[in-house]
Amino acid sequence: MIDLPRVHQPYQDELDAAILAVVHSGQYISGPVVHNFERAVSGYLGAPVFGVGNGTDALQIALMALGIGPGDEVIVPAFTYAASAEVIGLLGATAIWCDIEAQNFNASADSIEALVTSKTKAIIAVHLYGQCANIEAIEQSAPGIPIVEDAAQAFGAAFTSGKYRGQKAGTVGTFGTFSFFPTKPLGGLGDAGAICTNDAELFQSANSIAKHGQSRKYVHDILGVNSRLDPIQAAALTVKLKYLEDSIGAKCAVANRYKMALTGISGIQLPITTDYSTHVFHQYTLRVKDNRRAEFALFLKNKGISTMVYYPLLLSDQQAYKNWGSHLEFKQARATTEEVLSLPIDESLTFIEQQYIINAIHDFFS
Ligand SMILES: Cc1ncc(COP(=O)(O)O)c(C=O)c1O
Repeated sequence: MIDLPRVHQPYQDELDAAILAVVHSGQYISGPVVHNFERAVSGYLGAPVFGVGNGTDALQIALMALGIGPGDEVIVPAFTYAASAEVIGLLGATAIWCDIEAQNFNASADSIEALVTSKTKAIIAVHLYGQCANIEAIEQSAPGIPIVEDAAQAFGAAFTSGKYRGQKAGTVGTFGTFSFFPTKPLGGLGDAGAICTNDAELFQSANSIAKHGQSRKYVHDILGVNSRLDPIQAAALTVKLKYLEDSIGAKCAVANRYKMALTGISGIQLPITTDYSTHVFHQYTLRVKDNRRAEFALFLKNKGISTMVYYPLLLSDQQAYKNWGSHLEFKQARATTEEVLSLPIDESLTFIEQQYIINAIHDFFS
């Protein structure tokens, strides 16, 4: 779906130099390169951030800092990547599945309202495919319950209306968590992630949990894990952060081109950008109607065009999570798993390649 060396090509020399500088520095754990990256990301997001090993750890550490454990319930969409839910189980708590909004694939505030009980200790609101879930509506549906924004797929997206207008994804919940997995909006050259919170006490405890729960060297006050941001990843990410806005702009241009060229095809529904969020187009995800997704994907494959289904199974249907539940039917989520198909979208996609994809889609539906 994405040719990362081709994406990196315009600034490959800068990446090489930044990485080699770490290799020659001898500072392979923590240190100034990590701190500088954390400062740069905090500046970009306008909120305090520290780095961790990956986006899954970021979620787990946020839940640990909130004290989530056995007997607690955490509400999470049935339609998302497994990481958003597995961390709940790892802490001995129970995932309670909520439904999603048809328009943007994100958690439905109404469905959350129906699930809140005295055991609900947190909500994981995933900003899927690159645009924000409606955090303000979720807050109103579950007053006082901490929200962890899983912004793994939406680094750089921003709220555009309401009380969070102008603020970035991941900076308005009790915690925001990020993945810098290589294909993510801000992607490293391996695993990496980050945590954001404006609460100084939670920042302190989450940061300590990520470093074995220590307050200073060999003094461990709370149970922790080992999840540090690697300096080589921090070096690469510092370079890539400089080009992030260009990357988002280029993906929005591709999305716009798809929209102009594909509007009106009755067999598909194009992605909708809500009026409360920008979209960074981590994915460009269609709904394919009339049960034709497999046939359509095969047609594109035969023309050399990759597509992906994110995600083919609801988490509630996964063997690993079969003991968790909720009384809802996830009507939207279930229909969505059967229809979604993501097209190629990245900043290196040439005009000719975009046109080739557009023509192939018209061919199929004509
Ligand atoms: C929505 C979501 N949450 C969490 C994660 C986990 O991130 P990581 O792969 O960095 O652990 C991912 C990444 O794949 C994701 O897409």
